[in-house]
Amino acid sequence: MTRSVFAHVDGVLHAERVSAVSLAERFGTPLYVYSRAALTAAWQAYAGACAGRRASVHVAVKANSNLAVLNVFARMNAGFDIVSGGELARVLAAGGKAENTVFSGIGKSAAEMRDALVAGVKCFNVESIPELDRLNEVAGAIGKRAPVSLRVNPDVDAKTHPYISTGLKSNKFGVAFDDARATYRAAAAMPHLEVVGIDCHIGSQITEVSPYLDAVDRLLELVEQIEADGVKIRHIDVGGGLGITYDDETPPEIDVFVRTVLDRIDARGHGHRDVYFEPGRSLVGNAGILLTRVEFLKPGIEKNFLIVDAAMNDLARPAMYNAYHSIEPVVARSAPKQVYDVVGPVCESGDWLGRERELAAEPGDLLAIRSAGAYGFVMSSNYNTRPRAAEVMVDGDTVHLIRAREEVTQLFAGESRLPD
Ligand code: LLP
Repeated sequence: MTRSVFAHVDGVLHAERVSAVSLAERFGTPLYVYSRAALTAAWQAYAGACAGRRASVHVAVKANSNLAVLNVFARMNAGFDIVSGGELARVLAAGGKAENTVFSGIGKSAAEMRDALVAGVKCFNVESIPELDRLNEVAGAIGKRAPVSLRVNPDVDAKTHPYISTGLKSNKFGVAFDDARATYRAAAAMPHLEVVGIDCHIGSQITEVSPYLDAVDRLLELVEQIEADGVKIRHIDVGGGLGITYDDETPPEIDVFVRTVLDRIDARGHGHRDVYFEPGRSLVGNAGILLTRVEFLKPGIEKNFLIVDAAMNDLARPAMYNAYHSIEPVVARSAPKQVYDVVGPVCESGDWLGRERELAAEPGDLLAIRSAGAYGFVMSSNYNTRPRAAEVMVDGDTVHLIRAREEVTQLFAGESRLPD
């Protein structure tokens, strides 16, 4: 649904009502382009399905942490899910509220815990006994009680890429299911902690509901045991992870996914509890594209290469996860298509953006790499001393520059030569 905001009008790809050609001319390439309408529609799908239920949505900041993107969500009263002190600072700078923010992550530092406690975050999602100990100590030192939930590893198979599957026993994440009950007892006995919930996150780019239902069943089983031990659980956080269409995947619609999960919790007799969701990709993934310009065509003996000005440093997902992103010309050419590997200028064979794509393109042409709104810019780097791309947000026929393109001198501004 959200893909339709990027559509061809008179043969030219548009973002809402703005031509991608004009965006590239005005801001240069590579360029991340987001659609406010698409962000809003995805949010409303979640919010609509939660309306009238005891459910709330926390935007996973890691998927796209640009202040303007976060601000679009904050204006709609979103909650946030953060994994670092840096992300907390972004949420606050973007107009989000600490009291609607949950703090996830496996290795929180004492300083991050302190800052989050002072800011007043809603809940710490804790993943181990040493982390509980540290949080208890930090909270005690500043005279506060930290609200905690334990991230439990439900040991379900999310049927996704191994690098982004997180709910199996073999993953580094969460408290093992069999240890959870005892860990809750330990948490409840710590004077500066207040147990408020339970959570899990089983992976990312999950395109079926069934792994969630398995995880929910496992969590509810535990909740009953934990409460039998006298520890009250107010909320159940089912994590993020709903997949999107990159190619031919058919994930459930957001509202169907939310309702199915909530209905299962109700049906199991737990409808009186608050339910949290922590989506990232399904809110922002198809709300963004990456525009890139063709530098050269390089015919080869075994393969033809199309060398573009975006690279693995701009969009790491293909190199890192073998991920597929659809690539299409901004202005369609009628010339015959050829099969190309679309690659960037970085000096690595792993620097590719698309393999074996049928395209008709000439140097100077613009291409759009789809589904780049999630884990795109946020995972970009300065490898090969490449300034990171600019980001813009389109809103109807208005365009906002939401991150200026980096200058080379900024890249080494913090460095220095040795003294003479
Ligand atoms: N909550 C927690 C605790 C998480 O670890 C994550 C993502 C989310 C929520 C959001 O999940 P989402 O709805 O976006 O799937 N870089 C990888 C994805 C890594 C996901 C890490 N955790 C990629 O580009 O595919």
